[in-house]
Amino acid sequence: MGEEDRAPSEEPSLDPEDWESFARDAHRALDRCLAHLQKSRSRPAWREPPDRMKNVPPLPGAGTPRADLIREVEGEILPFATGNTHPRFWGWVHGTGNAAAFLGDLYASAMNSNCGGRDHAAVYVERAVIEWCRTIFGLPQEASGVLTTGTSMATLIALSVARLDALGPKVRADGLQGSTPLVAYASGEVHSAVVKALEVMGVGSRGLRKVTMDTSHRLDPASLRSALEEDRSRGLLPFCVIATAGSASIGAFDPLNEIADICEEQGLWFHVDGAFGAWARIAGAPWAGLVEGIERADSLAFDFHKWMYVQYDCGCALVRDGRLHRSTFAERPDYLVSSQAGVAGGEPWFCDYGLDLSRGFRALKVWLTLREYGLDRLGRNVAKNCAQAQLMAAEISRRPRLSLALEPQANICCFRFRPAGAPEELCDTLNQMIATELQKSGEAVFSTTRVGGRLMLRAAIVNHRTTAEDITGALDAVERTGARAARAL
Ligand SMILES: Cc1ncc(COP(=O)(O)O)c(C=O)c1O
Repeated sequence: MGEEDRAPSEEPSLDPEDWESFARDAHRALDRCLAHLQKSRSRPAWREPPDRMKNVPPLPGAGTPRADLIREVEGEILPFATGNTHPRFWGWVHGTGNAAAFLGDLYASAMNSNCGGRDHAAVYVERAVIEWCRTIFGLPQEASGVLTTGTSMATLIALSVARLDALGPKVRADGLQGSTPLVAYASGEVHSAVVKALEVMGVGSRGLRKVTMDTSHRLDPASLRSALEEDRSRGLLPFCVIATAGSASIGAFDPLNEIADICEEQGLWFHVDGAFGAWARIAGAPWAGLVEGIERADSLAFDFHKWMYVQYDCGCALVRDGRLHRSTFAERPDYLVSSQAGVAGGEPWFCDYGLDLSRGFRALKVWLTLREYGLDRLGRNVAKNCAQAQLMAAEISRRPRLSLALEPQANICCFRFRPAGAPEELCDTLNQMIATELQKSGEAVFSTTRVGGRLMLRAAIVNHRTTAEDITGALDAVERTGARAARAL
């Protein structure tokens, strides 16, 4: 029977007509993916996608044979990844991924679970991950949590709970109408994710007060006290302090205990943005000391896809008061009511702890990562990355043409190529050229930031594949490229 003779109700499923041939293709694809993972060092750290890839293919009305698509994916997509699986990729804060999590994604794809709620294994895996995190970060039993796309979404969730705490449950119906203007506090190192969350929540970016920092770019508690006093006297309503545990730009860690003391005294919500830095907690001395006091947080946002080396995407929001967390988001129309038994059982449901109703099975890759490697080994890798940033700083100090922006507090090292006598403005241009040239050659990926107004190369090391030789080799490449670029300027 031809396609056109078939009754619409007889349309076959999307399953392969020949599962054996699909299995052969799938096994080949698996081998190709494993080789991609295993050989990350042998590829350039980045390759520009070919121009033909940037064109949108025609709208696919009819299907395309699988063999053609596999060829296209393996030839034109797979080789042109971001590059963060490479040992010399240190741009932005891009995690490496790991082999255990790769398996997690594979199984999760086969299961295709919806983790918004109900009674099935994936939900229990997510609960286990959250319970482990609650224990790691020292939050009480009644704390709750939810896995998210990343820290940006976790921040929006956490700060929304803080807003409900400040204004009461009526904020869900009324929004901010008629309420005293809310103000949140953070250091100048605060991440743009916090600004965006406050904007979406209606607090607005003007409702974020950036507090003076000390010379190490840490929020200054005395300045926080004065800012709070001043804002109260102006009739504003301070509701939340956001401490940064590991800032994206230079890796600064705010003094958590001192901030927690102020929040406790003044009845303010204490949120910690620990996107990557929270994991210093498992790295032993001296690094764990950077996040002492994290256990006092009312809410905490962090990622697995950065310093837990888990594949994108996965972050987490933890909230000290689980009931408050639920009352910020729970909404169950008739079609979402749960039951005592059957698939519709399994309360509590994760959809009541965030914005997403439908949610993928992110937890399995985290569960496998934590279980296969164990916290001790993961912690040793976090400590290794901090030691590598110190090594990078020490190497920079020994090389006259390189200049360190500031001592790394943990795993982020900022510096610049600065040949003797070169004017600062010229060095800004030069260092941007170095970052771009190194990316294009695939030798190493640094990103850039500004410290004291000057453009710096920046390495955020959240990479379990990096070795000491990668650090020195990449600095050699910076010097080589810098010398070449200086001649061309
Ligand atoms: C300190 C900090 N907060 C928040 C974020 C945003 O996290 P995500 O990219 O997972 O949304 C980042 C990202 O680098 C970060 O470093």
